[in-house]
Amino acid sequence: MSTNTLTTLEHIDREWWKEAVVYQIYPRSFNDTDGDGVGDLQGIVDKVDYIDSLGVDLVWLCPVYGSPNEDNGYDISDYHSIMDEFGDMADWERLLAELHDRDIRLIMDLVLNHTSSEHEWFQRSRRGEGEYADYYYWRDGRPAEDADYDTDDGPADEVAPNNWESIFGGPAWSYVPEREQWYLHLFDENQPDLNWRNPTVRQAMKDVVSWWLDRGIDGFRMDAVSHMSKTDGLPDGDPDGTPTGIEHFSHGPRLEEYLTELSADVLSNHDITTVAEMGHTSIEQAASYLEDDAVGLDMIFQFSHMGVDGGWDPETVGEWDLTEFKRIMSERQDALADRGWDALFLGNHDQPRIVSRFGDEAAHRESASLIATFLLTMRGTPYVYQGEEIGMTNADFESLDEIDDPQTVGRVEQYIADGVADSYEELREVVNAQSRDHARTPMQWSDEAGTGFTDGEPWLKCNADYTEINVAAQRDDPASVLNQYRTLIDLRQSTDALVYGDYELLTPEDDQLYAYTRTLDDERVLVVLNWSSEPATFEGSEIDAGDATVLYGNHDDAPTDPTGASLRPWEAVVYRL
Ligand code: GLC
Repeated sequence: MSTNTLTTLEHIDREWWKEAVVYQIYPRSFNDTDGDGVGDLQGIVDKVDYIDSLGVDLVWLCPVYGSPNEDNGYDISDYHSIMDEFGDMADWERLLAELHDRDIRLIMDLVLNHTSSEHEWFQRSRRGEGEYADYYYWRDGRPAEDADYDTDDGPADEVAPNNWESIFGGPAWSYVPEREQWYLHLFDENQPDLNWRNPTVRQAMKDVVSWWLDRGIDGFRMDAVSHMSKTDGLPDGDPDGTPTGIEHFSHGPRLEEYLTELSADVLSNHDITTVAEMGHTSIEQAASYLEDDAVGLDMIFQFSHMGVDGGWDPETVGEWDLTEFKRIMSERQDALADRGWDALFLGNHDQPRIVSRFGDEAAHRESASLIATFLLTMRGTPYVYQGEEIGMTNADFESLDEIDDPQTVGRVEQYIADGVADSYEELREVVNAQSRDHARTPMQWSDEAGTGFTDGEPWLKCNADYTEINVAAQRDDPASVLNQYRTLIDLRQSTDALVYGDYELLTPEDDQLYAYTRTLDDERVLVVLNWSSEPATFEGSEIDAGDATVLYGNHDDAPTDPTGASLRPWEAVVYRL
């Protein structure tokens, strides 16, 4: 792992996962070796040397288990097998071995909150069979005359048991005539929520976790964790909640208990790492889970910074403010300074592409490398999502037919049903800014047809810019985004202050510059980012930069003295003070 100079400093709470840089792989879109247009495990094996060449230490593999793919693997029908399109268990074992041979660890994506409706548990549950009857949330409907909401499903005289909405849009309940009851699904209707109150369900999931740990993996990214516990009695939510009911299905009363049990019984017996996805979670909530060792979470994906651009609001699409972004990021850094460790991310398989969102496609190389500088110099473990390292951008989805993502489809349909828009065309701008499918277009390996991702017909359309933005074009160019990532990953791994140092924000009110220091004892690093398309001057009056040396610049001729430095648009410089 990293070469550190300060290994003797006793006050640093060293952990391998704090020193790691993570690479996230969405297998469906990474590399296809059998020409079916869908990525596969052999495709990842073929790129292990590429992954190694980035200098990363840990791979997070999105779900590869048996799945009908209504939500691309996040709807698991068999936790103990590999999805046919991706290969088989022997391919998975080869991947693990190839990664471990290169000292790269592997974490698997663990979906705890729900299964696929095709999982055998649900099939039996819908028939009310024995112990499976209570594996999911089943409830009787409510008489339609007693409700102030409508649900199209089910018998004419009844509506869903409560007014909760799915995170993907539409009601969170679907009716099953066979059982004459409704089941809860906080995501797609094909993703029924598991009933974690049932100790048999908890045991079954602990068995899944143990089964994978026995295969020698290095931890889990835990999906949708904040939703595992629901308010007793499943009461109606505030009709204005987005989505309605969220106050009853985020951070429910028993969440901490479930996590603690999982940790005590299984996770804590292994040298692994855990990172939990927690949507609808405040920084304070995240900090309180992280500081409690018994909960067993090393890191949390918390989303406050992802709301900075207004998300799916068609009125404010794409607008964001650097001072607000700095405030949010600094709040996270400060909240976790003594209480936990952040999972640093700007993109993932659920988010738009970071250059399009936070940078400038017209200043592609500079803005992509500035964002990389930020990601790799903050306190926390950086997560690089596939394609970020070459600066992949958002695609243009011309019609809803080009979209695969159930969340995008659900939201578009809901906006149209609610009268927010009359047609897809009116929503195209917000889809082009926010859809999860931007992250899922095929990885751009080369300028060949199919982006070098496939010889067949890709499962999702390729981004038209692949002829310009691709790995082959950047591989040998030292200035390329790809090589800037390699340089920055290496810098982080050889600079303890960038991993463990305290964070201090400079110039909070400046709407062009994001500048901060990272300090560990007498090692002090200054990061100055001109996060704008105009030149900017860094006064630097609050720091003593007498002996500054440049550790990194995204231009060859970075200003050597940070005090009073003029920075070009999107210029990023890292100094040792
Ligand atoms: C998480 C995953 C997302 C998935 C959802 C439901 O948010 O990251 O891709 O759709 O959970 O499993």
